[in-house]
Amino acid sequence: MDPETLILTTLSTTTSIPDSFTFASTHSLDHNTVVGISKSLEADAYISLSELSSQFYTLSSEAESIVQNGSQEILVLKALMERGDEGLSLAELQEVVGKDVCKIGMGNCLKNKWAAKGKDGRLVASASDSAGGGEREDEVRELLVKLKEGAGGTAVLDDKAIQALKRRKLISLITRKSYTITRGPSYAPTRTKKAADLTKELLDSGNWKSTAFKPYNFQTLGESVGGGYLHPLLKVRAEFRKILMEMGFQEMPTNKWVESSFWNFDSLFQPQSHPARDAHDTFFIKEPAMTVSVPEDYYERVKTMHETGGSGSIGYRYDFKREEAFKNLLRTHTTAISSQMLYQLANQKGGFQPARYFSIDRVFRNETMDATHLCEFHQVEGLVADYNLSLGDLIGTIETFFKKIGITKLRFKPAFNPYTEPSMEIFGYHPDLKKWTEIGNSGMFRPEMLTPMGLPENVRVIAWGLSLERPTMIKYRIDNIRNLFGHKVDMGMTKNAPVCRFEQADEEKMETQ
Ligand code: PHE
Repeated sequence: MDPETLILTTLSTTTSIPDSFTFASTHSLDHNTVVGISKSLEADAYISLSELSSQFYTLSSEAESIVQNGSQEILVLKALMERGDEGLSLAELQEVVGKDVCKIGMGNCLKNKWAAKGKDGRLVASASDSAGGGEREDEVRELLVKLKEGAGGTAVLDDKAIQALKRRKLISLITRKSYTITRGPSYAPTRTKKAADLTKELLDSGNWKSTAFKPYNFQTLGESVGGGYLHPLLKVRAEFRKILMEMGFQEMPTNKWVESSFWNFDSLFQPQSHPARDAHDTFFIKEPAMTVSVPEDYYERVKTMHETGGSGSIGYRYDFKREEAFKNLLRTHTTAISSQMLYQLANQKGGFQPARYFSIDRVFRNETMDATHLCEFHQVEGLVADYNLSLGDLIGTIETFFKKIGITKLRFKPAFNPYTEPSMEIFGYHPDLKKWTEIGNSGMFRPEMLTPMGLPENVRVIAWGLSLERPTMIKYRIDNIRNLFGHKVDMGMTKNAPVCRFEQADEEKMETQ
């Protein structure tokens, strides 16, 4: 019979189970199991429980052996008495009664003056004992036997005896919780499962009338509500966006991924034979393969600049091809948007006005994927168009931005970009990683790019671009980009990633190299 049925049927013949502990041991059941089942039966009001707390003494293993063999002092005394006046040396005594017994027993015999040490160090039973030949009573053993027979009950021995036994660490007091089990208000000899839900079936069949329902548990915690979570990239993007807006930058509309080669490459004075325009590096679009239109007069000026130059440049001197310029592709950088924004700035009503633009959005490159490269990633792009800007303005703008994300040590390394001159790679010393890492690319847009757009001659445009993935991976300590983005991403990571906050570096700490 299972414990549940056992409890219920027992209660059908008796009014109570006085102690769950005794009940459990009578039926060879684990007491915890009986308690668990009882609690569950109580929850459904089949039974009522009232707590019992009982205290009793248990005997240590030393005490158990005293019960068996007698106390150490009696054993030692017996051994000594057998030897009469001759007594025993320590070694001999150890031999006869054993080391442990000897240690405690000898001490107690001396203390009780049942024995004394002779001049030669031998132990001899005291005259009264050997002469009388009388048996000393083994009091300790008697107490222990009595306690044991009384099931360790707290009232079996008087206080003095208990204290004496406790002092010798022969007994310890145990407190046990158990229950008295009686019938509950909904007692029945067998338990019927209660329905948790009112279902359509119960309603249709009419069985709801006779079904017992579980009562509502108003104490229970509700299920945690799963909300939406921002991906770490979006968290970092939100922070970067805030910083750039603080710096007076306006967001560019980057919400289209397909561009023409014209805007992605040609307008940036990137030659049509440039290796980056190869299908190995760029995803071209099959359908529709060609863009519909570009601003024709601007197109002509770009074409001329590529073919023969202008503004002091000699151009690339090749045949600029319309079908090459019209090829659709997935943008390889957000600079494709920057060039359209600059074209609009130059051609807007009322003429050119200084502007600061930024964007943080996705770009695509046909790359071999590895731990740090994916075919799609996000670029943080920024540009400032104003009269007579210098390289110092570019460095200052970049420093201001990075200072706001806690990077104060920057190095600029000369580099090449078809559309900027000078061009600089940006290296940052990362205080957490304690190393220099490449963090971006920058430059001043070339006159070959700006003149065809129609920007006033003394307008300079400084610009820079970085990946969003890199700072995100550093911030969230992710060492493989595939754990950040793509089908291998653990959704739990998105849910548990902490908020992103960048500590702005102090002005005094600002230290550029
Ligand atoms: N477009 C460049 C890149 O993809 C970044 C850049 C932007 C460089 C603006 C200079 C100026 O790496």
